Amino acid sequence: MKRISAMLITAVLTVLFCIIPGQCETTTDYPSLKEAYEGKFDIGTAISQQTLVDMKLREIIIRQFSIITAGNEMKPQSLLDITKCAELAREDETAVAVRFTGAKLILDFAQKNGLKVHGHTLLWHEQTPEAFFHEGYDTKKALASREIMLGRMENYIREVMAWTEERYPGVIVSWDVVNEAIHDNTGWLRKSNWYKTVGEDYVARAFEFARKYAADGVLLYYNDYNTAYPGKLNGIVKLLEQLIAEGNIDGYGFQMHHKVGSPSMDMITRAVERIAGLGIRLRVSELDIGINSKSETNLNNQKAMYKAIMKLMLRFSDQTEAVQVWGLTDDSSWRAGTYPLIFDNFRKPKPAFYGMLEAAEEQN
Ligand code: XIL
Repeated sequence: MKRISAMLITAVLTVLFCIIPGQCETTTDYPSLKEAYEGKFDIGTAISQQTLVDMKLREIIIRQFSIITAGNEMKPQSLLDITKCAELAREDETAVAVRFTGAKLILDFAQKNGLKVHGHTLLWHEQTPEAFFHEGYDTKKALASREIMLGRMENYIREVMAWTEERYPGVIVSWDVVNEAIHDNTGWLRKSNWYKTVGEDYVARAFEFARKYAADGVLLYYNDYNTAYPGKLNGIVKLLEQLIAEGNIDGYGFQMHHKVGSPSMDMITRAVERIAGLGIRLRVSELDIGINSKSETNLNNQKAMYKAIMKLMLRFSDQTEAVQVWGLTDDSSWRAGTYPLIFDNFRKPKPAFYGMLEAAEEQN
């Protein structure tokens, strides 16, 4: 509710603000990131159903980006119809029912406007109903067996891929097959419900099913955060090497939810170089860089870090599919308190936006 009132106030202020000549930029008054990066890689953003209600944000998305991701609407929590799953389980414990209520709006928007979609995410330990992992889809019952969970995993992946490909052929160009499997402290697989039910090979099995049901040419990614930290990086590399050996993975997604200066650009560079060395595709899937306040110095440091990350990815443009920011305006970010994005609350491009732009311009 608080978030909605804040957004309404911003919208009203924006309208008032725009009455003053010269104070209101239209979406064509400044360059387009996707044009600046054309021929190099896609530039994208995460959006939500709410984003699409705002006509100005729709214009910004269409002009600035070539690829979008649903911030929440294509996660298991949104796609699984657990009530229906429980009904079906009376006949078949592995049956899975899905629904695409929010996803549909985002896929329609992408299809109508010629935008690609990166699917996020098939398997994750978060934003997945607990009941999905239990016998009868009932949290009061025991965790389901490996056999049941492999059945549910295959059915879920098949249903999601079949539904999206049938109605939106070619729109989803890539998927995060598994998200955040590596634990920050142990540097190896976290003991998630997937791990507890299926076991050590659950990530590999997910890639196997994803490959089996994905349309030709759809790229399959493993996606994680804190890649720049050596302990975690070692675990991620070990997992990627195992997946590469099985032949079903295409690439790695660096989330990059950072703060200015943390981790350092040196650490980020080393991590990107190491994973690039594995010879797989790369993407920055969820870029945002937090600052403590909107002081001029902070905004400029934020710009510098956005620019440095883009320059780094441009070094690997042959391997990079896309760089995607995780949202549009600071106030709608999941890290709203840290002003981490490239548009301000008035939907104006921030210095960070120009940092991304300059990196491309200086390359040409
Ligand atoms: C976040 C969304 O942006 C929020 O709206 C939601 O409340 C929580 O999830 N890593 C991921 C994303 O892979 O799915 C997360 O998205 C951010 C961290």
